[in-house]
Amino acid sequence: MSIRIAPSILSANFAALGEEIHKVEEAGAQLIHVDVMDGHFVPNITIGPPVVKSIRKVTKLPLDVHLMISDPDKYIPAFVDAGANMLTVHAEATVHLDRTLNFIRSQRIGAGVSINPATPVPAAEHALGLADMLLIMTVNPGFGGQTFIPYTVEKIRHARQLIENHGYRCIIEVDGGIDIDTIPQVVKAGAEVLVAGSAIFHSQDSGRKVKEMLEIAASVSYHHGYV
Ligand code: DX5
Ligand code: ZN
Repeated sequence: MSIRIAPSILSANFAALGEEIHKVEEAGAQLIHVDVMDGHFVPNITIGPPVVKSIRKVTKLPLDVHLMISDPDKYIPAFVDAGANMLTVHAEATVHLDRTLNFIRSQRIGAGVSINPATPVPAAEHALGLADMLLIMTVNPGFGGQTFIPYTVEKIRHARQLIENHGYRCIIEVDGGIDIDTIPQVVKAGAEVLVAGSAIFHSQDSGRKVKEMLEIAASVSYHHGYV
């Protein structure tokens, strides 16, 4: 299985977003991760559909849109129209997760469900059959540049086992504090898509950083079921 890198533009230079995206795209990043925050579900405000629409025009890469917003159902159509390829909602922000995931899929884009660090994996277990992706937060959502929370590794392992036991096709993404030093443990535990913001865009050379991350990820492999 090949591991994919999804640079989070949250830490990029917003005044030069097109260039920032081109650099990581050229270096081999496979998705662009877009963090949407509403100042309600998380204590920060970022961007919305107009920015997604503009980014859509400058890259061919799939746009992986992470909705850290309350009542996401209200805004799903706007993000679909803006060109999102994958929409991820938080289990904690969604009252009818089953309905929401089905609705996203009915729009013919990927549906993701995310869980905060303190939310147990079984809270999303039955939704995993309806989801294309499970996003396990490895920091508390809201800001870039936070420190990776080590206990989340056990959750990745647990989720991977549940997905395999059920025979689901859901992939696992991790987000928060991902860098060269944390990649081996999340990949060994079963993560397949690695989101990284500050590690990539606050480095000297974002393209080189993406390549380095891909190399490290490729050198480690998932340990089936157990450590
Ligand atoms: C955090 C966001 C992340 C953030 C990650 O709430 O969901 O995508 O950009 O940033 P780093 O990689 O700097 O932890
Ligand atoms: Zn994110």
